[in-house]
Amino acid sequence: MNFELTEEQLFVRDAAREYAQRELIKDVLERDEKAIFPTQHIKNLAELGFMGMMVDPKYDGTGMDGISYVLAIEEFSKVDAAVSVILSVHNSLACFGIEHFGTEEQKEKYLKPLARGEITGAFLLSEPEAGSDASHQHTRAEDKGDHYVINGIKNWITSASVASVYLVMAQTHPEKKHHGINAFIVEKDTPGITLGPHEDKMGMRSSDTHSVMFDNVIVPKENRIGEDGFGFTFAMKALESGRIGIAAQAVGIAAGAFERALAYSKERKAFGTEIANHQSIAFKLSDMAVKIENARNLCLKAAWLKHNGKPFTVASAMAKQYAADMAMEVTTEAVQIHGGYGYVREYHVERLMREAKLTQIYEGTSEVQKIVISRALLRD
Ligand code: CAA
Repeated sequence: MNFELTEEQLFVRDAAREYAQRELIKDVLERDEKAIFPTQHIKNLAELGFMGMMVDPKYDGTGMDGISYVLAIEEFSKVDAAVSVILSVHNSLACFGIEHFGTEEQKEKYLKPLARGEITGAFLLSEPEAGSDASHQHTRAEDKGDHYVINGIKNWITSASVASVYLVMAQTHPEKKHHGINAFIVEKDTPGITLGPHEDKMGMRSSDTHSVMFDNVIVPKENRIGEDGFGFTFAMKALESGRIGIAAQAVGIAAGAFERALAYSKERKAFGTEIANHQSIAFKLSDMAVKIENARNLCLKAAWLKHNGKPFTVASAMAKQYAADMAMEVTTEAVQIHGGYGYVREYHVERLMREAKLTQIYEGTSEVQKIVISRALLRD
């Protein structure tokens, strides 16, 4: 087993680290407080090739491997998980979905500008009454011969107002249950699409989250992804890939909080010495480091399996569940190590703790990951 990173992987990791530590850090507190979308950062990251990270260069992507992707998402998340969720949904749901299941025409028309970062993608699965229970889609896509008509509401959509391309799941044949769901590429400017208000979130506040309403939205048949009824499988396939990105995000959030707690504990004095010299703090740091390393390894393993064409459904669920729960624990400890300072904005760790919470909720809660893992265990 080879744990060494290649030169290319190290290059990508260092480029992401440098951008995060030099640029993202400057305005992250203000963007978080005022919920300002990181428009210029996303443009810069597109120029650096981070918007088409794993897309084949023949579709204008950067062609990085899955390990490089995980390393980059970790580095961005150490500083700003709002930026990394925009990248993650765009890369591992939108670009991945079209590249792996779209037609050549769809790739030409939509994947190429997505991979160049000229436009952003969003993934529309969740609904007011279909969150964890994703197969109970209420949004309808009526088959009208050469086109579909979509009606319904989607919730919690990352990048809803900035994205130009939506991947939308909707039910066409309710009698077939999840086998009747279809997935579509829908252009955001299509008549009949309106957005709900910007969601005022607890964390990742500068990412752009809205509900999206569809009122008789006409979508050409050539924009359906895959065969009739492929939509639920499509969503699950995209999500099992996306969950590796969220696991990497959780690792980054935890690592960012850990680095701050470690530095603080070597500076802050109490009872006559730096607090790192107190075993109660040193043991906390040790526990945090072990958990982060465990999560990182799960995450890299899932990315490796995916990159090498092996089954990774369970590995990505394990990585996502463990990393998200671990990030919540580690960021809470980082706040504790900072004492009162941890509870104010300028020390960053309270923000990282708020960000960690979301990793336990989106792209499948920790409980959803346990459903995926336990069903696989019981089946085998
Ligand atoms: N690959 C291929 N097929 C899969 C699959 C996978 N990974 N997982 C399930 N399927 C298939 C099953 O094989 C089954 O097919 P058959 O009926 O033909 O045998 C079918 O899908 C139904 O599977 P289940 O019975 O397991 O489905 P379920 O209804 O019990 O749900 C679930 C399982 C894991 C809970 C699923 O509903 C789920 O993942 N829910 C969470 C949804 C989610 O993550 N939402 C996040 C929204 S996206 C988001 O957050 C984006 C953003 O903007 C941040």
